[in-house]
Amino acid sequence: MQSPDTVRLSLCSRFGGCASKVGAPDLARVLAGVRFPTDPRLLVGLTTSDDAGVYQLTRDLAIVQTVDFFTPIVDDPFDFGRIAATNALSDVYAMGGTPITALNIAAFPIDTLDGEILGRILEGGVAVAVAAGVVILGGHTVKDEEPKYGMAVTGTIHPGKIVTNAGARTGDHLLLTKPIGAGILTTARRRDGIPESDLAPAIAEMTRLNAAARDTMLAHNAHAATDITGFGLLGHAAEMARASRVGVEIESASVPLFPRVLELIDLDFVPAGTEGNLVFHGEFTSYADHVTGAIRVALSDAMTSGGLLIAAEPHEIRKMYLELAPTHACAVIGRITEDGDGTISVL
Ligand code: CO
Ligand code: CO
Repeated sequence: MQSPDTVRLSLCSRFGGCASKVGAPDLARVLAGVRFPTDPRLLVGLTTSDDAGVYQLTRDLAIVQTVDFFTPIVDDPFDFGRIAATNALSDVYAMGGTPITALNIAAFPIDTLDGEILGRILEGGVAVAVAAGVVILGGHTVKDEEPKYGMAVTGTIHPGKIVTNAGARTGDHLLLTKPIGAGILTTARRRDGIPESDLAPAIAEMTRLNAAARDTMLAHNAHAATDITGFGLLGHAAEMARASRVGVEIESASVPLFPRVLELIDLDFVPAGTEGNLVFHGEFTSYADHVTGAIRVALSDAMTSGGLLIAAEPHEIRKMYLELAPTHACAVIGRITEDGDGTISVL
């Protein structure tokens, strides 16, 4: 039996965090074979690869719902709980919603790992829920060889104020509200390539709620938004581009990276999910010659609990940037172009 004091939780699973997600091409193939009935009250459903579903209750009230859970990406159970909960809430914020309730969803090898570890994971989730003003109503836990944790979250939203990934317009600028490369850092830590202290900046960002970013984007007329998770910056940008029937131009030098990310990519600390993304992203992305291999990998990194990617008119993005910059490592990273086929060009 592994105890809470000695366990390295991130070594308890084969795939870390959002890298444990089934890849976009595989998922698309599977979902294409399943018929989901439509309903007039379903305002945002499965067809647009949006962050969360939205269902209308009354003229001025809809619920926004999402579920996210995954394997540990860090060793400390409390931190893992905080990261998983922050990540689960993020999809509600990305739609412009306000999360109100959550259900825990967990899997745990109770015969080989001390139950106190699961307790610490759940405490981490509670800490985040309290900070977000979210009430945990209950949950469900199954026995499993690998620990997993996350939440099903319900939020409220006005039916006329939903921010989907389909509203980006030509000429919009793009704001990213957190650095990328957390998948690289957590992988390097799992393989003992960096000390625990080098992971601290990534843990700080992965446990940062996207609530302030949501407030800012609602105050300044965001046209479209999504959060950066397992499909990487380019993957989520491409979903926005396709849904909005536009193209995206990314200024690679402007994209905020966690410290050491490029160096660790050169040392080959690249998770399988990121490698898969890189191949998939190559199908719709063109890179300028000066964009190095390491930067291409970073832009495809499979993230957990990343920031919001927000599209809005340039002067609105400027206001959002000025509001968030004192507290967030945010940056204006590109713009929306008129290429209507969802292509991405990295400069
Ligand atoms: Co999302
Ligand atoms: Co999600």
